[in-house]
Amino acid sequence: METLSKAKVVVLASGRGSNFEALAKAVSSHELSRVALTGLICNVPQAGALAVAARYHIPSFLIPSAHHEKNWDRAGYEAALLAQLQTLAPDWICLAGYLLLLGPSIVRQYPQKILNIHPSLLPKYPGLKAQRQALAAQEQETGCTVHWVTEELDEGPILLQKKLSILPGDTEHSLSERLLTVEHQTYVEALRLLTEPTSHLKNHPQQK
Ligand code: GRF
Repeated sequence: METLSKAKVVVLASGRGSNFEALAKAVSSHELSRVALTGLICNVPQAGALAVAARYHIPSFLIPSAHHEKNWDRAGYEAALLAQLQTLAPDWICLAGYLLLLGPSIVRQYPQKILNIHPSLLPKYPGLKAQRQALAAQEQETGCTVHWVTEELDEGPILLQKKLSILPGDTEHSLSERLLTVEHQTYVEALRLLTEPTSHLKNHPQQK
């Protein structure tokens, strides 16, 4: 039998962890058959993502960031984060609701290796509250974007985008909920594109 090597993927998250869970589910169901989730790194002790890691038996590493404090030690935090990443030696790093901007000391170590998911059709509405920004601009549609992480916030090259219609009466909450489902599918599909480059030819003939 052919032995296929799996890409080592480490996820960075700060919150609820639903995108991380979507990846974990896709790995357990073999939808992502060439991915091994080898670690979750989290900077917030109360984050739901830590419980997701426990449920899926994925090793988790808490590196608290103290980012709410004035004059917090960003350099010390990033040194600890980098050391943990180096130990895990991932092929890809997925940011999934990771709320800090990664500094150059990390981004430069992993060029074209770090992905992020953002809840808008970038380059529209970077930064926080992207769904609220789209509603305020009276958009008819929005979506999500998986992109490579560079030193600029939400600006790296785009790997995959999916659109979603904004419905009459949508609130920030209803739109965010619907968009989250699309995000989950999109992040899984992006990792399939990376780890099974020919899969989209079989399963997604509409993709270029
Ligand atoms: C998602 O909307 C993601 O696009 C954004 O932060 C949110 C994280 O949600 N970057 P979750 O923690 O994955 O549930």
